[in-house]
Amino acid sequence: MTRPHPRILPYGTAAIAEAATLIRAGGIVAVPTETVYGLAADATNAEAVARIYAAKGRPSFNPLIVHVADLAAAERIAVFDADALALAAAFWPGPLTLVLPVRAESGIAALVTAGLDTIAIRVPRHRSMQGLIAASERPLAAPSANASGGISPTTAAHVAASLGGNVPLILDDGATEAGLESTIVAGRTILRPGPVTADALLNHLPGEGRGPIGTSDVARHSADHHRPPIGPRPSPGGRAVTAPGQLDSHYAPSKVLRLNAIDADRDEWLIGFGDVAGDVSLSASGNLVKAAARLFDLLHAADANASARIAIAPIPFDGIGEAINDRLRRAAHR
Ligand code: TXA
Ligand code: MG
Repeated sequence: MTRPHPRILPYGTAAIAEAATLIRAGGIVAVPTETVYGLAADATNAEAVARIYAAKGRPSFNPLIVHVADLAAAERIAVFDADALALAAAFWPGPLTLVLPVRAESGIAALVTAGLDTIAIRVPRHRSMQGLIAASERPLAAPSANASGGISPTTAAHVAASLGGNVPLILDDGATEAGLESTIVAGRTILRPGPVTADALLNHLPGEGRGPIGTSDVARHSADHHRPPIGPRPSPGGRAVTAPGQLDSHYAPSKVLRLNAIDADRDEWLIGFGDVAGDVSLSASGNLVKAAARLFDLLHAADANASARIAIAPIPFDGIGEAINDRLRRAAHR
């Protein structure tokens, strides 16, 4: 049950310790970063991550940014190329997020990346977020700590007004410095402009400044040609990179997926929920947070097993069920 008001604790050793205990128990905590307040959970715990989506009332699963203590921790989760290493050296800790291939053995819950094979990762500079990462000893998934569709919060009061009792604890460490979400870069494409500008990025990419990277999107974002990215853009490798919020290329199974199934047809692997037992269940007790936590893992497993097709039980549209249904509709679309 949610409480009407969140607990707001001023930054300090005791507050960090209490927040870390909550995180390690699979809970969620609002915590400032140098950009905006984030709603943090243990990125290795799928149910904890599902609680973030539930608290925000998100109608879909947008992949989340993972926050870690330093480059070494980031390298255990993602694969860095020369560009990424150069940008990390120049801007971490700080308001830059890198989208990189995720390691198979990263331990990060599939719900964090919404089943993608890339991960958005950053090393924050803020003492509160750094303190919470250190005390909880976990990589922290954290979207901005506002209700879905709301404005990103830059004070604890904003968080309380937007999320109310959906968040049990807010670490209050004053107003954030940047007030604008981190810059997101994939390859040499800016997916989201932010505090780290295109010019600053260009100055630190290998290849001696502008010349060799004149056709990159980072270059096109710099000084004279400033414009926000719109829609999918080709990356230098020729692979399409999709802008945040437009990720229709979310993981979809390669097999046919039939929705609202009560029984399995021949050749189908049935993913159950509640009364529909299936070959395996998202949640036999009908718990939607548990179902969200298992969704991507079970879809991946069903896609990989010997069955020819996949079917999935009806999922109610209540609360986080809306996001589950949104994801299933996309996964079933061919
Ligand atoms: O400053 C920030 O970045 C804040 C603080 C809390 O760190 N966080 C934040 O998170 O703004 P959020 O969830 O509101 O925005 C994350 C963005 C989304 O637009 C999402 O689509 C994009 O990152 N994203 C995450 N993973 C991605 C991926 N693998 N590929 C492309 N975009 C990704
Ligand atoms: Mg946001």
